[in-house]
Amino acid sequence: MSDPRVLILGAPGAGKGTQADRLTAAFDLEHITTGDALRANKDMETEYGTPREFMDAGELVPDPVVNEIVEAAIDDADGFVLDGYPRNESQVEYLEDITELDVVLYLDVAESELIDRLTGRRVCSECGRSYHVKYDPPAKEGVCDECGGELYQRDDDTEETARERIRVYEENTAAVVEHFRETGALVEIDGEQDPESVFEDIEAAVEAHTDAE
Ligand code: AP5
Repeated sequence: MSDPRVLILGAPGAGKGTQADRLTAAFDLEHITTGDALRANKDMETEYGTPREFMDAGELVPDPVVNEIVEAAIDDADGFVLDGYPRNESQVEYLEDITELDVVLYLDVAESELIDRLTGRRVCSECGRSYHVKYDPPAKEGVCDECGGELYQRDDDTEETARERIRVYEENTAAVVEHFRETGALVEIDGEQDPESVFEDIEAAVEAHTDAE
């Protein structure tokens, strides 16, 4: 029995990271997230500049930088949840050359909800857990429930940059969703439910498309 290879798609703030954390724990998978990998290397010099220059503006980091990160991570993983990649058609081609996927999930959330989710997000500086000031607040303001770490707001979660990220998503990544819809692989999940209900739907979809339980 091989471990599931799951792709999770959705707009910025759709809940990909929240649900990927649950999935990796439930099925003992690697969480491959280009956003986290790039944030950990924001000031890395590449021939295109640093990731920070693109990320803080809400733009995509150039494909060769991201492709390399993903290929290395996939090489090291058996089962995985891939979150934040592919984000354009060229990344889709690259991905399809290096691996096969068992299930492609798409978290469907209306644009009007995304800005609220992004601007209200707070992240633990120690363990990386995400909170939301309204929908999932910590017990003590500014402090992580799980590890006591300090919570911070991501540089790209300002309203202006969040709007630009959603524009970039529509321009580039909406076509990725269409690609997987056309191949018949896409499983659409109502991402506007509470996080537990979203996860129940995701868990059922993964079990239905793989031999994982
Ligand atoms: P990345 O970090 O991947 O950001 P993103 O795709 O914009 O997604 P987010 O992490 O913002 O949102 P999410 O869907 O994970 O939502 P979350 O679960 O946190 O990328 C950042 C940047 O890196 C990009 O802009 C780009 O520059 C670069 N980059 C990354 N990958 C790249 C690539 N492949 N190519 C080129 N460049 C790349 O939830 C959000 C909030 O909502 C949280 O507060 C959470 O608590 C709350 N929430 C979650 N679910 C629910 C729910 N069901 N109900 C209510 N609230 C909820």
